[in-house]
Amino acid sequence: MTIEADRVAQTPDLSYKFSEQIDVSTGLPVGLVPLEIVRRKSYLNNIRPNAIYHDIGGGTGASARYILSMIPADVKEGMRVIISEPYNYIPHTVRQEIVKEVDELVIIKSAAVSSAGLIEADVSSLINMVHLIPKGDRVEMWKRLFDASPIGSVGIVSTTFITDWIPEELHANRVAYFFQAWMMQIARRAKEVLSDEVFAEFRARKKTEKLSLLDSNGLIQEIIGAGFEIEHKSNETMPCNVESYDLIRYDKEWIDFITPVIEPAQACEIQGYALQKTMKEKDLTLEDRMPRNTLVLVFRKPGIPKNYVYGSTLVV
Ligand SMILES: C[S@@+](CC[C@H](N)C(=O)[O-])C[C@H]1O[C@@H](n2cnc3c(N)ncnc32)[C@H](O)[C@@H]1O
Repeated sequence: MTIEADRVAQTPDLSYKFSEQIDVSTGLPVGLVPLEIVRRKSYLNNIRPNAIYHDIGGGTGASARYILSMIPADVKEGMRVIISEPYNYIPHTVRQEIVKEVDELVIIKSAAVSSAGLIEADVSSLINMVHLIPKGDRVEMWKRLFDASPIGSVGIVSTTFITDWIPEELHANRVAYFFQAWMMQIARRAKEVLSDEVFAEFRARKKTEKLSLLDSNGLIQEIIGAGFEIEHKSNETMPCNVESYDLIRYDKEWIDFITPVIEPAQACEIQGYALQKTMKEKDLTLEDRMPRNTLVLVFRKPGIPKNYVYGSTLVV
């Protein structure tokens, strides 16, 4: 008998908690609801048998499980699934769930810029993660992904870290005010609990470093620049609520971005304390909606171009 112990997280493991939050109206993980458009438009209905699927920056496996749920069971049976992820750990139960449905599961501990060029995948997904890759690495990653991908292969991107993340609806002001108030409470709490020295450093970093929100068109141009064709683009709603932020405050990248310099466990506590204060001040509950826009893209490596000479055969 093999007993496999889960790795103990060294820092609070945020993306795990957020990926477990279920949207009550759809029954789906909140962060993955925007991808329902890919199911509705049947982009993954024609995957070949024995195809290879690569989830890049797969976190704790939620995105791979969700994408696999869109692929017909008889196709999945013969599929090989690769999840590449540099930091997070995929729990044993999640791996078992995936293995039950597919031919083989391989997990690679690797950053996207490297793993994107390693796998000849028929389907690649980059879910809730492209904003974490610095632009230079990202451009390199698209190129490597293009070179490694077979003709006709499909890629799926979704990210809510875009410049227009605040929805243009009734909620817009509420979302913006909530966010501003929370950030102010974080700064206030940080001043209370940090030494003057650390607080000054935190303030200085916050002034110079802004979370780089992606320009949707810029991202699309990067992907086209590598040679892919965009088959679908839309802004979808991620049905976040106040609780989503209470969960995301455990995420390493979120902590680094919102509360740089501060030691992660303390930063997570500061964010939590500040959130409670904000909720009290604004009379909010964990269930109150704070939706975000999310960019969803489907791209494809184009087929053999007209008049392309393949071996000794001219394809017209
Ligand atoms: C918000 S989580 C999303 C996880 C998963 N795709 C999902 O939607 O459930 C972002 C993930 O990107 C990973 N990540 C961060 N930098 C990365 C990089 N350079 N290459 C690949 N993955 C990266 C993080 O470790 C984290 O697991």
